[in-house]
Amino acid sequence: MNNTYDWVLYPNEESAVLKIKEALHRHPELSFEEHRTSELIRSVLGRMDGVKILDLPIDTGVVAVIRGGASGKLVGLRADIDALPIREVPTGPAVSQNDGVMHACGHDFHTAALLGAAQVLSRNRAELRGNVMLIFQPAEEITAGARYLLEAGMYNEYRPDCVFGMHNRPDIQAGKVVAEAGYRMAGKYNYNICIHGKSSHSGSPQDSHDPIVCACALVTALQSIISRNIRPLDSATVGIESIQSNNEMKHQMVDDVWLEGSVRAHDDKVRDLAFGRVCEMTEQIAAAYGCEAELTVEDTVPATYNTQEMADIAKRAAIATVGEQDIISVPGGLGCEDFGWLLKETPGYYYWLGSGRVDDTDETEYPGWHDPAFHTNDAALPIAANLLIQSVLEAQK
Ligand code: NI
Repeated sequence: MNNTYDWVLYPNEESAVLKIKEALHRHPELSFEEHRTSELIRSVLGRMDGVKILDLPIDTGVVAVIRGGASGKLVGLRADIDALPIREVPTGPAVSQNDGVMHACGHDFHTAALLGAAQVLSRNRAELRGNVMLIFQPAEEITAGARYLLEAGMYNEYRPDCVFGMHNRPDIQAGKVVAEAGYRMAGKYNYNICIHGKSSHSGSPQDSHDPIVCACALVTALQSIISRNIRPLDSATVGIESIQSNNEMKHQMVDDVWLEGSVRAHDDKVRDLAFGRVCEMTEQIAAAYGCEAELTVEDTVPATYNTQEMADIAKRAAIATVGEQDIISVPGGLGCEDFGWLLKETPGYYYWLGSGRVDDTDETEYPGWHDPAFHTNDAALPIAANLLIQSVLEAQK
């Protein structure tokens, strides 16, 4: 193997990666609209030696393979590439030029880090003991892109033995790495409910089956699922995030009310139990109010769970990248991410990497994901790239 110095970004490569990140940040694109982003990725990969872009029937996203000098494990590295419908409050040198769209989750950071890792892996490909698949995934924000790539045949020709993903964490000190087993993200159901009632004039409520009263009763009843159906030591949420009716007339009750909600949990059994209760309550409470309800599942995503075996590899990669002193333990959350679909296909590991303050004396604000003033501390950018590189090397040992 080459000198370890060769397996990290050279200083000139670090500045190139930062420039790429800033270019991506200036031109954020929404889920499944990442055309310019995909073009940029293709053109950067096109300048590297030994990188083969797979010919897949996809509109956005890029999947490529670097062939190593010796045979061995195929390791997948995945970065998400999409942005959010948020108007940016500028905080740094690069500001969104796409009004109302913003990289408010740092997927520009992930994309640039993976391009950086690709650069180093391509430069050292003769020394690689196996191949590497680079997965630039569209539409993570609507948790649809992972399945989109799988359904497009991303794994038909090359099927990874394992895959690594990463998300920046602005609430964690820059450069700290979470490399441990357990649940990282929740699995979820997104669901829509339509309650059909019967309208009448407000002065004659006896002629109505008011779906608004029914919807309010349902929302209140759903709150009992967590407190009375879920074991206190399990993690789950049940939410209604939107209620709408179509009333354009004053003093008139409506026919229909639409609700949107989600159920999230770490354990799939807990998620299914909570969702089963949502279905039962919707049907029975609607009936109790003389209404009819239709519940449809819009989307489902499995949880992101790191096995002990993959966590051991990830920890060795993290030690090689930042040293034992910068590895921290952080409990999982009930956010959601469609990396869970990739984990259904192959073993994998999902890192959290600190992208916040440099140390305790740093007073810079790093607002959370999806905040209009969100930004990453790009001192962590080369660390992100180097961590992905080390993950490949450790997994191929
Ligand atoms: Ni994100």
